[in-house]
Amino acid sequence: MHLKSFVLLSLAVGILGCKKDVSKVEGNRAVPAKAAPANGSDTILFGHVASLTGEQATFGLSSDEGIRLAVEEQNARGLVRGKKIAVKTYDDQGKSEEAAIAATRLIVEDKVTILLGEVASTRSLAFAPIADEKKVPMISPSSTNPSVTKIGGKTRPYVFRVCFIDPFQGTVMAKFVRNNLKLSRVAILKDVGNDYSVGLADYFAKKFVELGGTVISEQSYKDGDQDFKAQLTQLRSKKPEFIYVPGYYTSVALIARQARQLGIKAPFGGGDGWDSAKLYEIAQGALNGSYFSNHYSEENQDPLLQNFIKNYKAKYGAVPDALAGLAYDSANLAIDAIERAKDMSPEAIRQAIEETKGFRGATGTITMDADHNPVKPADIIEIRNNRGTYNTTVEP
Ligand code: PHE
Repeated sequence: MHLKSFVLLSLAVGILGCKKDVSKVEGNRAVPAKAAPANGSDTILFGHVASLTGEQATFGLSSDEGIRLAVEEQNARGLVRGKKIAVKTYDDQGKSEEAAIAATRLIVEDKVTILLGEVASTRSLAFAPIADEKKVPMISPSSTNPSVTKIGGKTRPYVFRVCFIDPFQGTVMAKFVRNNLKLSRVAILKDVGNDYSVGLADYFAKKFVELGGTVISEQSYKDGDQDFKAQLTQLRSKKPEFIYVPGYYTSVALIARQARQLGIKAPFGGGDGWDSAKLYEIAQGALNGSYFSNHYSEENQDPLLQNFIKNYKAKYGAVPDALAGLAYDSANLAIDAIERAKDMSPEAIRQAIEETKGFRGATGTITMDADHNPVKPADIIEIRNNRGTYNTTVEP
């Protein structure tokens, strides 16, 4: 059995076995933590909101593994302010409403010290206002849309992230296509129900046009769509040299396969949402010659990253994706901030996260800027032989 399916199955068994929680949760399923999850006086509880099932299940599963590895390593090293760390995860099934319910429950019922999650910007946006209102610090490992931490020109006081943001990621790819690949006619295919996809498409297009290129066609789809032939036929008639698809892996892989069936040969490009082993499984080679921007490459020789990869492999038997690395960093940054905070109040922890400077994570060094975003480089991954290979690193 494939490892991820095994993990999924074990989680499902765990979930079904956890009757009491299920009946209380109304749609959010509790994943039992190994240690007693109660936020008693001897534990600091982290709450994780994650898509453990649904279209983007690998996002939630990878993130949860990264967080649990960080916490396990910390508990083995020693106590944090005299306490052990525990994690409680609720499955939001990849749905925004469920994400908001899960976050509320973690805050109100479980009384977590920190909220970790979500991966998808749309779902982080569903509970960022709740974190602010209830004054519980939230760290998204991997949501890249700017509005997650800043809305209407105002930084959300309690919301942070440990990854770069989409204006940067879109610019990186636009420059790469224009300056490195020397292409000038691109088409865009975006997921209109997804804040991340819509934002990234815009940032890419803006930069690409600024650099003298042309966006010859812009088409859209919705998460869950299975048939993209109408949009692809439209694109084909315009003869694009490159097709930018800033979506998530399941749709992207299906789009690429259908494009090849229609005789479209142009390479595809995208962002971090492509990053999953499932992308290659579904694409079956259709994405060879394509590129995407990502948070890290396993080929980066940074000793902290390599050490994380080694420990992750030992625990889970697979190479971590970027999400696992970012989630690992989000939990470690939370621990670091709790240790630095002047007391255990939410405001003191919030302030400690805000003051983070030069924190060395597996995915890079984190210094929070005024908008609660770290400034980090992006890697360009090239797909060859149905595998992601490191191409280059772009500094901010
Ligand atoms: N950045 C994506 C978003 O904001 C989520 C994502 C991150 C997906 C990293 C895959 C890898 O929606």
